[in-house]
Amino acid sequence: MSTLLQHAQIDWDDQGRPHSRQYDDVYFAVNEGIEETKHVFLGQTRLAERFANLAPHACMVIGETGFGTGMNFFCAWQLFAEHAPSDARLHFVSVEKYPLSQQDMARAVRLWPELGAYTEPLLEQYVAVHPGFQQFTFADGRVSLTLLIGDVLEQLPQLDAQIDVWFLDGFAPAKNPDMWTPQLFAQLARLSHPGTVLGTFTTTGWVRRSLVDAGFAMKKVPGIGKKWEVMSGAYVGPLPAPAAPWYARPAGSALPREALVIGAGLAGSASAASLARRGWQVTVLERQDAPAREASGNPQGVLYLKLSAHGTALSQMILSGFGYTRRQLQRLQRGRDWDACGVLQLAFDGKEAERQGKLAAAFDYDLLHTLARSEAEAIAGVALPAGGLFYPEGGWVHPPALCQQQLQHPGIRLLTHREVLELRKVGDHWQAWAGAQLLASAPVVILAAAAEVRRFEPCAQLPLKRIRGQITRLPATTSSRALRTVVCAEGYVAPPREDEHTLGASFDFHSEDLAPTVAEHQGNLALLEEISRDLAQRLGAPDLDPEQLQGRAAFRCTSPDYLPIVGPLADAQAFAEAYAVLGRDARQVPEVACPWLDGLYVNSGHGSRGLITAPLSGELVAAWVCGEPLPLPRAVAEACHPNRFALRKLIRGK
Ligand SMILES: Cc1cc2nc3c(=O)[nH]c(=O)nc-3n(C[C@H](O)[C@H](O)[C@H](O)COP(=O)(O)OP(=O)(O)OC[C@H]3O[C@@H](n4cnc5c(N)ncnc54)[C@H](O)[C@@H]3O)c2cc1C
Ligand SMILES: C[S@@+](CC[C@H](N)C(=O)[O-])C[C@H]1O[C@@H](n2cnc3c(N)ncnc32)[C@H](O)[C@@H]1O
Repeated sequence: MSTLLQHAQIDWDDQGRPHSRQYDDVYFAVNEGIEETKHVFLGQTRLAERFANLAPHACMVIGETGFGTGMNFFCAWQLFAEHAPSDARLHFVSVEKYPLSQQDMARAVRLWPELGAYTEPLLEQYVAVHPGFQQFTFADGRVSLTLLIGDVLEQLPQLDAQIDVWFLDGFAPAKNPDMWTPQLFAQLARLSHPGTVLGTFTTTGWVRRSLVDAGFAMKKVPGIGKKWEVMSGAYVGPLPAPAAPWYARPAGSALPREALVIGAGLAGSASAASLARRGWQVTVLERQDAPAREASGNPQGVLYLKLSAHGTALSQMILSGFGYTRRQLQRLQRGRDWDACGVLQLAFDGKEAERQGKLAAAFDYDLLHTLARSEAEAIAGVALPAGGLFYPEGGWVHPPALCQQQLQHPGIRLLTHREVLELRKVGDHWQAWAGAQLLASAPVVILAAAAEVRRFEPCAQLPLKRIRGQITRLPATTSSRALRTVVCAEGYVAPPREDEHTLGASFDFHSEDLAPTVAEHQGNLALLEEISRDLAQRLGAPDLDPEQLQGRAAFRCTSPDYLPIVGPLADAQAFAEAYAVLGRDARQVPEVACPWLDGLYVNSGHGSRGLITAPLSGELVAAWVCGEPLPLPRAVAEACHPNRFALRKLIRGK
């Protein structure tokens, strides 16, 4: 799978319209771009009528090949805004092999000032668009966009969605024969259902025949402008094979859209936000006096991407999560709540330098690149022991600000000082109890209480570990303010926020005590010394009295494979019985439905990188709950699935 991003190479004609150098074709017809979109894609699929007839709270899912300048998306969104009931949602999924650079996107959308209400929000969020699934939310969450960055033949097979309407775009078949293939049409069919419709500008004979072979009933219809005819179609083929039962989607429910979220850290607030944006009434139960008082309570956390050149599930999750978090941060105040000051990972030894070299070869320059020591020092503003790998879009975040921002939705009610001790299922509802007190109840519960989720019977078997960590707060000095980027070696130090640098962080696998210790402050100072002796001097570190240092400690919560645990929960005992046969033959797929605990979900295990994984996991859990397109490749969602451990136990017998 390609991890290397290639932007669209565009030539602008004398009237300011884009032309693709890669495909030697125009993005849209001269003079008639918008009219053509409206006719071919919106008109042929009778989209206005479909939007107007959406059932209460329904979500229309549109799939597109070739996002390009996004014109089809903007026009569909405009039509949705004009015709759909106010509680309906639009989820637009589009694949793009060569995304426009930010500059080109800004230039392209200037062509349609009349679509400004739709193009401006995209431009604001058009950051950190890297290969793989990239999730966006607009219009207070009424509109979601999942961009799949990569070749359509590589990306669509990873998509888990039911598409209602296809926009089959992409340059003309003659100019782009690699895309218009039976494999593509098979994917369109796999993602369709009876009732799915399709619009395309091409009437090429073999495209029509291939679509028919794939299960679409196609017809030619009158075109527009220079196109005499275009095509529309409807899916009439068979339903796709279902996923393995342990990773299948639990059946949806007709119960009221009300949920409880337990825990108001990054995972809980993200889960609440993603559900509230989908029209749910969410009650968040938090045991502390305010959100973000435990792991998510540090003054600064780092947006640090620990990637693999091999495109592992974790690496894909990180790249998608990073993009999504960055887009959420655009809504926060830069300098106070976060800063995109970049993150520099020092090449502190030969092995690390080698690892960094491989990453630099595997990923695009805008995401990360190596810097020689002098270049790194120029960027960091302090003397450094080595060069390293620079992530220009990274930075630091004040996690409580991100939690607060996510909880600020009229659909969310936060109840503090509520420690849930027990969950009970009574009828259709889950009840949250604290001793004899019923705190709240709802048909859906998201457990987002980090390692504390294990106190609830359905999560008791999840292999979550607590790892204590401590950060040290260092008052900025006149000369330490020169630090302009986050610098990491074994530890990390950030440029000042409210005139204090955060220095982190220790790892202690055994301690259960959260009182900050002097020994760990000393350990953090040693980490600082390793990062930059110059910075340590500027901060007066040699003269600091460790007894007087301020800081805080909290528990990270990690899983054995370092992926978060996100998704629906099953009854452990019934699961082991239902799939016991896997212990004898791991290739069996028994036709036994998974014994889901209806309405119960988990979002935990964010380890040392919750800033990157927790916000997107909110979207993932909401997609599971609402039956919407998953915002991550199916394989990555399965790699994060709570059932993975029970499954491995059955197969490996341990
Ligand atoms: C020292 C340290 C440094 C870190 N540095 C970084 C970093 O630089 N970058 C990064 O991305 N990540 C970092 N992390 C990790 C990051 O902080 C976590 O991944 C993230 O905060 C986890 O969020 P969470 O919501 O899962 O957990 P938490 O923030 O712990 O939230 C769980 C919430 O559940 C509540 N709760 C628990 N039990 C109950 C109950 N029974 N009833 C009601 N409420 C309950 C808790 O009070 C808490 O508010 C760091 C962590 C630590 C400890
Ligand atoms: C005609 S343009 C899209 C027009 C677009 N709807 C717009 O309004 O700008 C076709 C797009 O398809 C993309 N594309 C072509 N082949 C592709 C492939 N194999 N996988 C993914 N995207 C592809 C191109 O990069 C280009 O952006």
